Amino acid sequence: VSTADRPLAGLRFVLVGPGRVGESLASWALACGAHCLQVAGRSASGRTAEVARRLGAAAVATADCAASDADLALLAVPDAALPAVARQLAGRVRGVALHAAGALGAAVLEPLRSPACAVGTFHPLAAFPAPRTGLAAARGIFFALDGDPEARALGRRLAAAFGGEAAVVPEEIRDLYHLAASLAAGGVATVLASALDLARRAGVPEAARAGCGALARGALAAALAAAEPATAITGPAVRGDLETVERQLAALAGTAPDLRPLVIALARAALDRRAQLAPASPAQRALAERLARPDLLDRPRKRVLTSGLPD
Ligand SMILES: NC(=O)c1ccc[n+]([C@@H]2O[C@H](COP(=O)([O-])OP(=O)(O)OC[C@H]3O[C@@H](n4cnc5c(N)ncnc54)[C@H](OP(=O)(O)O)[C@@H]3O)[C@@H](O)[C@H]2O)c1
Repeated sequence: VSTADRPLAGLRFVLVGPGRVGESLASWALACGAHCLQVAGRSASGRTAEVARRLGAAAVATADCAASDADLALLAVPDAALPAVARQLAGRVRGVALHAAGALGAAVLEPLRSPACAVGTFHPLAAFPAPRTGLAAARGIFFALDGDPEARALGRRLAAAFGGEAAVVPEEIRDLYHLAASLAAGGVATVLASALDLARRAGVPEAARAGCGALARGALAAALAAAEPATAITGPAVRGDLETVERQLAALAGTAPDLRPLVIALARAALDRRAQLAPASPAQRALAERLARPDLLDRPRKRVLTSGLPD
């Protein structure tokens, strides 16, 4: 086996928090030649023991974790447990300590920080509904780094070994980094769930579901391939098609009025995105003005559905 296949050979680490992320990161490190000395959990038994066995390491309770002969302590406990775990491990970790939380910077590990221990973050920008073991699952993941230079350097080394990307995401922008990631994942899934719910409530045949999925995949692929993702936004809103948007909103009022705020917000956001790329056309401006009028949410049926009829 060549050195290129074992880029982390010689690296000794302890894993604190043998959950979905912890087991995944540790298994990737092992696949790259690192050696796991200990797996620490709230207790040494149960899942901690199982993961330790799979990683060829000793199982310990965090209170008994002795990480002083390791080069790295990988902390993958729930965000809320990090301050207490950092205090618990203070003075017992040498080398580098990295945590995997996206929303937090390196400061939460301050109790571990010493001349002998650099602290930082190593946040995988990926979803782990279950452990993703096997190095193939790591390819292409972005890792958010923060903290001391030695910690960032080790984070870069790990990411490169895993076939991922890494860059510093400093503490002060972590909340918005996390929000951007949530919009890209949960936000997109929320819009898709709303679209499919609307189709179901409107009585669109179930057979159209796969077609909606294909449209969604196509739009996502086009947005990701474009230098400016907003150029891939399609639909009546970006065309400035006021008549169609009003008809759709009126129809929505009868079937799914709860979706109107989302639909209006998305139409406005679509126009805003486009306006950042090119000056709005008169039709787009007219639609933006109509969407900004407060009566849009209050009296949705008047203009189209009931026109000419008594209320
Ligand atoms: N899941 C994701 O998609 C994802 C993605 C990126 C980053 N992250 C981050 O990764 C970190 C871990 O998340 P996760 O999803 O892997 O959580 P998880 O599956 O719930 O695993 C957390 C692990 O930490 C253990 N633990 C709790 N308190 C501990 C303590 N005091 N000492 C040692 N171990 C302790 C838990 O044990 P018990 O089961 O006994 O409680 C569990 O094994 C979090 O910072 C999270 O924000 C998660």
